[in-house]
Amino acid sequence: MALVETRTPVQGVAARALPAADAQRAQVPRHVAVVMDGNGRWARQRHMPRFFGHKAGVDALVKAVDIFAARGVEYLTVFAFSSENWKRPHEEVSGLMSLVLVAVSKYLSRLAGDGVRIRIVGDRDQVSDKLRRAWEEAESRTAHNTRITLAVAFNYGGRWDVVQACQQALAQRLAPEQLDEAWLGRHMALAFAPDPDLFIRTGGEMRISNFLLWQAAYAELFFTDCLWPDFGVAEIDAALATYARRDRRFGAIRPVA
Ligand code: FPP
Repeated sequence: MALVETRTPVQGVAARALPAADAQRAQVPRHVAVVMDGNGRWARQRHMPRFFGHKAGVDALVKAVDIFAARGVEYLTVFAFSSENWKRPHEEVSGLMSLVLVAVSKYLSRLAGDGVRIRIVGDRDQVSDKLRRAWEEAESRTAHNTRITLAVAFNYGGRWDVVQACQQALAQRLAPEQLDEAWLGRHMALAFAPDPDLFIRTGGEMRISNFLLWQAAYAELFFTDCLWPDFGVAEIDAALATYARRDRRFGAIRPVA
């Protein structure tokens, strides 16, 4: 559908028409963000401890990376441990930390061989030296891969991200007029990726939970009851098909045909 210039004054500013190139609705999201929720319930359904669900969650993640890559997604960002997850029982927190170490040793070679670039986003100050070293190894061994970037948000929170970017502005003594959306965007944890196009949450809850608050401003939201360990190829394709039917306008309008 051809787009025409629109001149609707919005707060004194002319509304921007979508560029012609955007008229071609992108069928595949470049960047998908996922809240991998439901591991605990998945384990409970099987009368197993929660850790069993998180372990299955890692396996599901490794499969999901390959499926999203095969569908043409360039960036996959997953919420593995939130700034708020420290409130969980000590046993679960330390279980998740050791699971990361196990996952890195079990899957790093495979992901590296599959062309996956791994990046970690979040506050690394609070994690152990051992974990930091594992992240560094995962990042350096995959640094030249280009098939898909897997960004693992670990000890991450959307509010933390905004605050740490503002702290950089203050540390650099930026003048107020120098601080704008573009500057902040360049100093946030996901500065290397375009904003997410599709935001998926599994596990039945319908909230963002402090994930990518800034970056998901125009993401299409997709919520599913499917528990994360069950989120396989059929569910991924359903999410991508739903995305392909969405009409993204980014605040602009489409003319009536
Ligand atoms: C939410 O399920 C899931 C998490 C808090 C952790 C997700 C982490 C993984 C899948 C492991 C990722 C590890 C690596 C190495 C990237 P929940 O525990 O809140 O489930 P529930 O809502 O059913 O209780």
